[in-house]
Amino acid sequence: MRERLSMNKDWLFHLGEVGGKLSSTHDVIYGQAKAGGLKGPGGLEWNDNEWDMVQLPHDWSFRLPFDREHGVADFGYKNRGIGWYRKKFVLDEQDQGKQLSIQFDGIATHATIYFNGSVIHRNFCGYTSFSFDISDRAFFGNRPNVLAVRVNAEESEGWWYEGAGIYRNCWLTKTDKLHIAERGIWVNPQKQADKLWQTNIEATVRSEYEQPVHFTVKSTILDPQQNIVGEGVSESVVEPYDQVKLQQMIELNDPQLWDIEHPHLYTLKCSVLKDGLVVDELDTAFGYRTIRICPDTGFYLNERPIKIKGTCNHQDHAGVGVALPDELHAYRIKRLKEMGSNAYRAAHHNPAPELLDACDRLGMLVMDENRNFDSSEEGLKQVENMVTRDRNHPSVVMYSLFNEEPLQGTPIGRKMFKWMKNVIRRLDPTRPVLGAMNGGVMEDEGTADIMDITGFNYMNGAYEAFRAKHPQQPLIGSETVSAFSTRGNYVYDKQQQVFDSFDEQRASWGNTVRESWKTINTHDYIMGTFVWTGFDYRGEPTPYQWPSVSTHFGIMDTCGFPKDSYYLYQAFWLEEPVLHIVSHWNWLGLEGQPIKVMTHTNCDEVAVYVNGRLFDRQSVDIYEQQTWQIPYEPGTLTMEGYRAGKLVATAHQHTTGSAARLKIEPHKSVLLGDGRDAIVVNVHAVDEQGRYVTTANNLVQFSCEGSGFIAGCGNGNPNSHEADIASSRKLFNGSLQIIVQSVHGSENITLTFSGENLPEQQLVIPVQAAVEPPYVPSARDLYINDWFVTQEPQADKPDPHAEVDLTNMNTWEKVDVSFGFRESLKNKGGYIMYRAQLAAELIQFSRLPQLMFQAISGNVEIYMNGKLQFAQMIEWNTEIALSLEPFASDEQLAIVVIIGLHPDMHTPGINGTVSVRNEKQSD
Ligand code: GAL
Repeated sequence: MRERLSMNKDWLFHLGEVGGKLSSTHDVIYGQAKAGGLKGPGGLEWNDNEWDMVQLPHDWSFRLPFDREHGVADFGYKNRGIGWYRKKFVLDEQDQGKQLSIQFDGIATHATIYFNGSVIHRNFCGYTSFSFDISDRAFFGNRPNVLAVRVNAEESEGWWYEGAGIYRNCWLTKTDKLHIAERGIWVNPQKQADKLWQTNIEATVRSEYEQPVHFTVKSTILDPQQNIVGEGVSESVVEPYDQVKLQQMIELNDPQLWDIEHPHLYTLKCSVLKDGLVVDELDTAFGYRTIRICPDTGFYLNERPIKIKGTCNHQDHAGVGVALPDELHAYRIKRLKEMGSNAYRAAHHNPAPELLDACDRLGMLVMDENRNFDSSEEGLKQVENMVTRDRNHPSVVMYSLFNEEPLQGTPIGRKMFKWMKNVIRRLDPTRPVLGAMNGGVMEDEGTADIMDITGFNYMNGAYEAFRAKHPQQPLIGSETVSAFSTRGNYVYDKQQQVFDSFDEQRASWGNTVRESWKTINTHDYIMGTFVWTGFDYRGEPTPYQWPSVSTHFGIMDTCGFPKDSYYLYQAFWLEEPVLHIVSHWNWLGLEGQPIKVMTHTNCDEVAVYVNGRLFDRQSVDIYEQQTWQIPYEPGTLTMEGYRAGKLVATAHQHTTGSAARLKIEPHKSVLLGDGRDAIVVNVHAVDEQGRYVTTANNLVQFSCEGSGFIAGCGNGNPNSHEADIASSRKLFNGSLQIIVQSVHGSENITLTFSGENLPEQQLVIPVQAAVEPPYVPSARDLYINDWFVTQEPQADKPDPHAEVDLTNMNTWEKVDVSFGFRESLKNKGGYIMYRAQLAAELIQFSRLPQLMFQAISGNVEIYMNGKLQFAQMIEWNTEIALSLEPFASDEQLAIVVIIGLHPDMHTPGINGTVSVRNEKQSD
């Protein structure tokens, strides 16, 4: 049966290129040209003893110091470079004959993957998920497999922080030889008359059997409550090493629809049977929903008109770079939902699968975007990759093929777009395709009119003219706003490189939040908006540069702490009354001075009180909001919001005392001890009376004990150069965040905080014991691959000390001893000799190494560096272990094994793996 195992654990990592120049002797060059013979860090043997052990997802870039001199502003002043990863792992003998594949969900940016001494895959986009088969090249039993990855993150694809390394999850999948192909399930429910739905299923079944196989595919649909609500069965025959695509259709009456409010998810359980037995089974989540677009009235979900209230987002988060634990994707989507947002543009990339899972579960529409505008074979492959991976997600409602491409308004761009769109059409005709344009929309021979929706990035002034020219062309604000604000800051200060929070500053090509939403909301034909951006992100610190290292565009900062505009969107996007006061009330020293204060509200009238005295009462135009200059007076500033004369909301700002302690708010009450879960812990300064002190900037120390560790921290300050992997951080305008990552165990987590003028405080987060999802452990054995053997037995016992010429291929034969007994030695007499060399630096002497022969027999003598270490007549294959003594680090360990043969012997020779094993194994 199918197994999906995490490959995230215990990789060895080296930052920077390794290897230097390899020896160019004939035997190295010759051997390297052969399958499995690769030398260097991608090969089987490499000294990775000193490499760091890391866990995936892993992003090395944000861990590096900020570098003004060499760093690029767009990349957040972090260097990228080259990195190497290696993971050794064993596969059970019982895995022989299974189909084995490795999936990488994302590596930034260019990756070369090596498996057991050969290049097995190359990938050229940092946002693409890819997989490859390793069945034919895998070793089973004791001999470890070596998966190595060279990441060239010098190659960039964006103008923002992209991270570097294996920053998404990695998996090993084991299936029967008859199995559902990679991405072989497509569920495409289509609504028929009234409430009747056809669930169209496409199942691709592959076989690596040597004979044709007759098989059955059984599809079962489970509703959100896990009841079986539909079934379909079909049969077919698949030829050897081939695949068959089966179509099934299961009718369902009145399913629970997937909607943004009620994201009902169904499960398709697809089973493949051979000779009546289930040999493979795969669950796919999907949803029943319709989408429709209308040039006049926009987007319809389940025939309900929905104004798209979206945000554009890059991938990174405070503390973790782009290597987000799965839970953090959900955290971010929830913050956006709470703001009233219903759509997410993965700008400008194909997102992590877990992000789409979160959008499915939480009810968030997604614009799935391709990274590279490229119609070459590689470019089309990237488009195909996006669609075959994502088309089962009900949340994905549109595909974007490009963002702001200089060719967008040209005949070449037009042809490219058509080619790319055709790939989508072929694989998924159900979703509209667009491009996000920042010009060229009026060109006759450009791309604007061959899109299903024309994406406008900014260009507010061009909507009308375009509409007049193309009245039938649906139109969306694929990117809007680009307003600037700094969380918790109310004074615009160019010197300090901060913005205020009154929705006034914006990029020259952008609009304020209010201007943009007014235009979009008052034009039915504009399908909606994707605001640049939901969250601040590292890099592109527009308009500032150093010391600013991340943007000021976000509605939230890099931690997901809301800026004031968050409440403005709530006012625009939520029905319920929203009333928020823009400004704190801690202006000590400015008594009597006018202080700018603003509303973010959807109430139609607001009254303002200073220390209980009515200051003003005004009606509020939602698109304008209200602003006052209020003479400062310590105490309490209160606003009351009215709808149709009725008090519906109240808000306060207090003059607080200084920070007296911390309010520690984990985003959920329990952490699972499964080694995967994560918890976001938000930390805020409060005064003696427990009121938030949004002006506090104290330095806070923290530590963590129990079944978890602090994966990283942040405070959302775009100008901070503090490290994210740290045990202290300054509050930024009252807040900081740490991300606690679970390790497998059940010991409750105790977080201890202390800080400047703050008492020590602890918070215990209960850890709930949980099964660790299955994973592939890493092996530490060092396999000795380089064995040479004398080709023919010789009558006289060879001299173990004699100088030998291993390049003489007529005397010496390279042999892979792990494949067992060599039939050529049957019924022979005389002697054979084996030789292998191992560099001393490969061995960790601190860990009591042993030289292990997994299976050896005959009249055995083993010499190490010329010294006889073992001599024994062994009748049956036996495992032996010899202690390895330290020797000079520049030396080679030369192993010579002489085996005396006799025609009566069963299986003389080295008949199994030889490895250096250290006593202390990793878990
Ligand atoms: C857009 C671009 C985004 C970002 C933004 C900043 O032109 O698509 O990636 O650079 O500007 O305003």
